[in-house]
Amino acid sequence: MKNIVVLTGAGISKESGINTFRDSGGLWENHRVEDVANFDSWVKNPDLVRDFYNQRRKDVIEAEPNEAHNELTRLEKHFNVNIITQNIDDFHERAGSTNIIHLHGEIMKVQSVRDPYYVRELSGWKLTENHKDIYGEPLRPYIVWFGEAVPMIEPSIELCQKADIFIIVGTSLAVYPAAGLINYIPLNSKKYLVDPNEVKGDLNGIFFVKEKASVGVKRVVDEILLENKITE
Ligand code: APR
Repeated sequence: MKNIVVLTGAGISKESGINTFRDSGGLWENHRVEDVANFDSWVKNPDLVRDFYNQRRKDVIEAEPNEAHNELTRLEKHFNVNIITQNIDDFHERAGSTNIIHLHGEIMKVQSVRDPYYVRELSGWKLTENHKDIYGEPLRPYIVWFGEAVPMIEPSIELCQKADIFIIVGTSLAVYPAAGLINYIPLNSKKYLVDPNEVKGDLNGIFFVKEKASVGVKRVVDEILLENKITE
């Protein structure tokens, strides 16, 4: 069974109503996102950071996966599919994809500062200072903040090294190490990129589908099934 790896970014969730990082110009209520989404901000102003992620969590809970998330699940019956997402939303899970790596964390989960292996689901949208870990310390959002290590990058690299087909959807490929994953894809693998806007960088050898995710992902999935003589 062929291996398919899908790398997704904020663009795949745009049609679910979730702003991409760049659309908002990287700003949230006049704060640079980098200035809110980092550990120093959490130490200095935990309420500001909690509010930022509470708002994003509320938006995700009130939104739905879109056709792009759903189309990707069509591949699972015929291929070994692994999704590596930079997104913190749970749309891939809610659409029914099964093998998902979140490189930058998960908005619906919270984590102990003292013991980073202590991670649990948050019920509801609102994280408060009363949500505490077993040491009695406030739980933090389970997010990889700017400047923090990306623990899931090694398993992601291993998956990319075995990919027969690589699909990139809705990412500016501006943030490392996620953006560097493309360098681990075998040269003879088939590569697709779905984005309605021009994408910087060397696209040679990549089949560029200049469409929004819901249209582009369907086109790529149809093409992959056709090329592999699979009728559903
Ligand atoms: N369908 C598909 N792609 C889209 C759509 C759409 N409807 N609308 C916009 N895009 C594309 C944009 O053209 C852009 O290339 O999605 C990409 C979004 O890029 P970014 O906003 O930079 O998001 P992303 O690449 O996921 O950012 C990476 O940076 O903000 C940090 O940690 C955060 O995971 C995030 C990382």
